Amino acid sequence: MADLHSTFLGIESPNPFWLASAPPTDKEYNVRRAFEAGWGGGVVWKTLGEAGPPVVNVNGPRYGAIHGGADRRLLGGLNNIELITDRPLEVNLEEITRVKKDYPDRAVIVSLMVPCEEEPWKNILREVELTGADGGVELNFGCPHGMAERGMGSAVGQVPEYIQMVTEWVKKHSSLPCIVKLTPNITNILGPAQAAKAGGADAVSLINTINSITSVNLDMMSPEPMIDGMGTHGGYCGPAVKPIAMNMVAEIARNEKTAGIPISGIGGVTTWRDAAEFMALGAANVQVCTAAMTYGFKVVQEMISGLSQWMDAKGYTSTADFVGMATPKVTDWQHLNLDHVTKAEINQDDCIKCGRCYAACEDTSHQAIDMSEDRVFTVKDDECVACNLCVNVCPVEGCITMRQLAPGEVDERTGMVVPAVDDKRTWLQHPNNPSADPNMCIVRGGQ
Ligand SMILES: Cc1cc2nc3c(=O)[nH]c(=O)nc-3n(C[C@H](O)[C@H](O)[C@H](O)COP(=O)(O)O)c2cc1C
Ligand code: SF4
Ligand code: SF4
Repeated sequence: MADLHSTFLGIESPNPFWLASAPPTDKEYNVRRAFEAGWGGGVVWKTLGEAGPPVVNVNGPRYGAIHGGADRRLLGGLNNIELITDRPLEVNLEEITRVKKDYPDRAVIVSLMVPCEEEPWKNILREVELTGADGGVELNFGCPHGMAERGMGSAVGQVPEYIQMVTEWVKKHSSLPCIVKLTPNITNILGPAQAAKAGGADAVSLINTINSITSVNLDMMSPEPMIDGMGTHGGYCGPAVKPIAMNMVAEIARNEKTAGIPISGIGGVTTWRDAAEFMALGAANVQVCTAAMTYGFKVVQEMISGLSQWMDAKGYTSTADFVGMATPKVTDWQHLNLDHVTKAEINQDDCIKCGRCYAACEDTSHQAIDMSEDRVFTVKDDECVACNLCVNVCPVEGCITMRQLAPGEVDERTGMVVPAVDDKRTWLQHPNNPSADPNMCIVRGGQ
């Protein structure tokens, strides 16, 4: 059986699944149950704030959701307006100390958010070190609501200079490993990631939640969740944010200024496959919140067995075998092969004659699917641009596939002969590009 063992910042974990800083890690009771359920790697404790009166959460609904399908599964995502922990600092610190003592082999990482001044950071780091939580600290520069209005969370994460400054304070006042958790509420993730690296961060984790309004109550004319007739933007997470998170992870992993910094991938991880995808793009491990909140702690057991079976099938003996394997395949559009030609093909045996592919292609794509009177659907190769829309709307998986034309075959749509592999062109060599250089070789990897 494959070894799921993973190492992150020198922290050895029996598997790469960590719980993200959020309600599942808000108290000792939860964290103990999480460890017992198999969250082998570690937990990032719910974000702690300064000593003194804790923050106050709303006492009405704090979540909004986008469901998918009739069974109300959380296919879209979850939105929340919760703040950092609303339990006193000393209570959290006592609990962390007890948990760490009872689980010395597990990583307890403490998430932190205090005002953007050196003294409060110095003070809280001293307190955290006393707990024995040697996993490290995660700096919450990502929470987009409530705390951001107070100059913390994403208000810091959106200003690379602040990220660097606070990270430097943390490294100056503590020897604990320091993970900087990044906000996706920014136009280019590379600036904050570079700032974290420049400040001395040992790793970055991403993403925190995305600014969002999930629904509007049309009777009350107010966004939901609604508190006494009013709503506010919240942080979106869950399956819907995974594509956004994976792109940001890949950007950091492949950019020469940020490549090499360890990444903890977060955002919509619900199955073993989600985790494998994040890791293939360069994340050394993953953190999970919404899936645990939706299905309970035991969801990790399916993640563990699924990842293990997949690794066995692929012949990977350790997670390090495939971490970052897909990173070199992420490139910029201009480096894609424009001579790669495919055509849609419908397997008539599998087709249930629903007509979705026809409607999609006829109305919104390239009128490349023919429908006979007895509802036989066939692709017209001389019209098909290979956009893949029919594949995506077909309800029968595998019924429509894309066939690649071999070198020497003629593309019936353009009349062009598919060139030999060595003669393929990207936009950088293409004759339609006024700035093309026909002598330029294909550059891979976006460098
Ligand atoms: C209710 C709720 C509270 C959260 N609180 C925190 C927090 O205190 N600190 C933090 O860094 N992230 C917090 N997060 C963000 C999660 O740690 C995570 O980054 C995000 O939910 C994306 O992961 P997911 O799609 O697996 O949920 C919170 C998320 C939710 C849903
Ligand atoms: S791939 Fe695009 S153009 Fe071709 S048949 Fe399907 S929807 Fe139409
Ligand atoms: S969408 Fe799929 S199943 Fe439906 S008609 Fe087209 S090929 Fe057949």
